[in-house]
Amino acid sequence: VSDPLEVLACLRDGRAPAAGAVRAFVEALVDGRLGDAHAGAFLMGVCARGLEANAVVELTRAMLASGDTLTFDDQGGPLVDKHSTGGIGDKASLPLAPALAACGARVPMVSGRGLGHTGGTLDKLESIPGFDVNLDAEGYRRCLRGAGFAIGAQTAELVPADKRLYALRDATGLVASIPLIASSILSKKLAEGIGALVLDVKFGSGAFLPDARLGRELAEAMVRTAEAAGVRTVARMTAMDRPLGRAVGHALEVREAWACLQGAGPADLRELVEVLGAELLVASGLAEDLAVGRGRIAATLDDGRAAERFLQGVEQQGGAARALEGGLELAPDVDEWCASRAGRFVCLDARAVGSAVAALGGGRTVGGAGLDLGVGAEFLEPVGAEVVAGQPLVRLRHRGGRGLALARERLAAGLDADPDGVLPGPLIGERIALGTATGTPPAAEG
Ligand code: URA
Repeated sequence: VSDPLEVLACLRDGRAPAAGAVRAFVEALVDGRLGDAHAGAFLMGVCARGLEANAVVELTRAMLASGDTLTFDDQGGPLVDKHSTGGIGDKASLPLAPALAACGARVPMVSGRGLGHTGGTLDKLESIPGFDVNLDAEGYRRCLRGAGFAIGAQTAELVPADKRLYALRDATGLVASIPLIASSILSKKLAEGIGALVLDVKFGSGAFLPDARLGRELAEAMVRTAEAAGVRTVARMTAMDRPLGRAVGHALEVREAWACLQGAGPADLRELVEVLGAELLVASGLAEDLAVGRGRIAATLDDGRAAERFLQGVEQQGGAARALEGGLELAPDVDEWCASRAGRFVCLDARAVGSAVAALGGGRTVGGAGLDLGVGAEFLEPVGAEVVAGQPLVRLRHRGGRGLALARERLAAGLDADPDGVLPGPLIGERIALGTATGTPPAAEG
């Protein structure tokens, strides 16, 4: 197909575009023959009509080809990465990257910033004084040669087509489309030059796509697309109907990640790091099966190797490792949110917990003030615990009461002590890999 406008006619009429049509369109967009009006029509068309699997692969590849890819000669191990669709308190990347590096993998992790009610990995790392997320291609290479992992921002040269399309989607309310999300995320992951990818697809009230069925559809589209592009990919559906771990808020989450790196910290965070890490060790040939992979990741958390890698990685990105060991600075003021009655501590809406922290200054508002990295919420009891009336359940870290009343209101809408409350479901759900169209139960994982 040589006519770049052919795909717009197909979308308008509800016909499947011929092979090459999507590529021709994206190429014309990138080289300036087509403009934002065409891009807007395309995005609306895809949102409304969807896109067939092979066209999603074509879209992803064409977006990838709009910029550079990271190249690593002799990086010393298989290149792997994980992507999470985002949730409340999700700091799993922080222990996972150095744990994988300690197991022999190399992790060029291009990450994002927080959006809406969720925090971003880059923002969290910036709570470590001096930490610089702006790596260029040579910076990524240098970090991989050193600590074996790098966590940084998307460079200007990586997938410029996504930057442009994402800005248009954002401005026109066209973000929530599975083909557009899958191609956006995967074009950036493919640009890292990785050979294996694990996707942590969240479902539940705190997830970007709360409905597990939609999350699953996204997971399947992403697995299919990434595999077609030559990357071994597995998706795990994981519960985000409550926050991950006990800490929500940037510096608090880095502290919790640091505890995990020392073999301590909450059990759910540890479980997620082990399971996602095991998938990547198996996919990249560094472990024979998931049980062995889990054991290897666990060992690096328990014997200090992952912590050592993390400190090395922080230092090579300019961060003050000493600040981490001494405890990162938190907002000075403390308030407690207590159970109004006896019962089981339940999370009715995880998003409300993220929104509460955002109210304290820990979230990005459109055109708003900078992030306060020291505010947040610490769960004093795990969701599911039996509690008594008046028992403190959440400690809020705030700065001079800013946003506190609103944060308390939001917590009250999202959390409760309920005499009839039930235990939360398992954290780790379905495993979606190529050829498991309906997903399969996880293999034995020890
Ligand atoms: N994250 C991305 O990078 N792209 C999307 O479309 C959605 C989430």
